[in-house]
Amino acid sequence: MKRGICPGSFDPVTWGHIDIFERASAMFAELYVGVFSNVRKKPFLNVEKRIEALEKATEHIENIKVVSFDGLLADYMRANDISMIVRGLRSVTDFEYEQSNANAIRSVHSDLDTVFLLCRPEYSYISSSVVREIASFNGDISKLVPPCVAEMINGR
Ligand code: COA
Repeated sequence: MKRGICPGSFDPVTWGHIDIFERASAMFAELYVGVFSNVRKKPFLNVEKRIEALEKATEHIENIKVVSFDGLLADYMRANDISMIVRGLRSVTDFEYEQSNANAIRSVHSDLDTVFLLCRPEYSYISSSVVREIASFNGDISKLVPPCVAEMINGR
């Protein structure tokens, strides 16, 4: 069974991520969505909340499995028979960041590959940090994240 994974911090998940999940889910029998730690980022929502948000926001996608792991992505993939990473690209800046990540992952396990899906233009300005910033000033995040995620953040 061909398995892929969309890894990320998802702090929080946005419409940009959901769009990538919907398109990536058609490429694999099973698509894992994995909450991993980015050591350079300070958490906004805890991992349990991020998982809850991802599970609710991806209910409509049948072959998605939401997981979390506190370790190397490459090791998680090996242990779970996952061969392909899917990441979204918004811009050239994303490409440079993603290129170095993809090569770093291959340096750990050389059989692991990454494919990229171009972000839809209407989502290209969305990032989790923009959501966090607007939310921290009680601004309206309803156009950036699914309703269940906005509800969770507004209720914090
Ligand atoms: N697709 C992907 N990201 C999108 C997006 C889209 N369509 N649209 C917007 N983005 C944004 C995200 O919202 C996020 O914004 P932010 O930086 O403001 O928070 C940013 O692009 C990318 O973040 P995210 O997708 O959450 O990933 P990340 O780069 O923070 O996480 C990990 C990278 C978690 C996958 C990586 O650190 C990892 O694998 N960690 C585990 C440890 C490990 O193996 N490290 C070695 C990795 S080489």
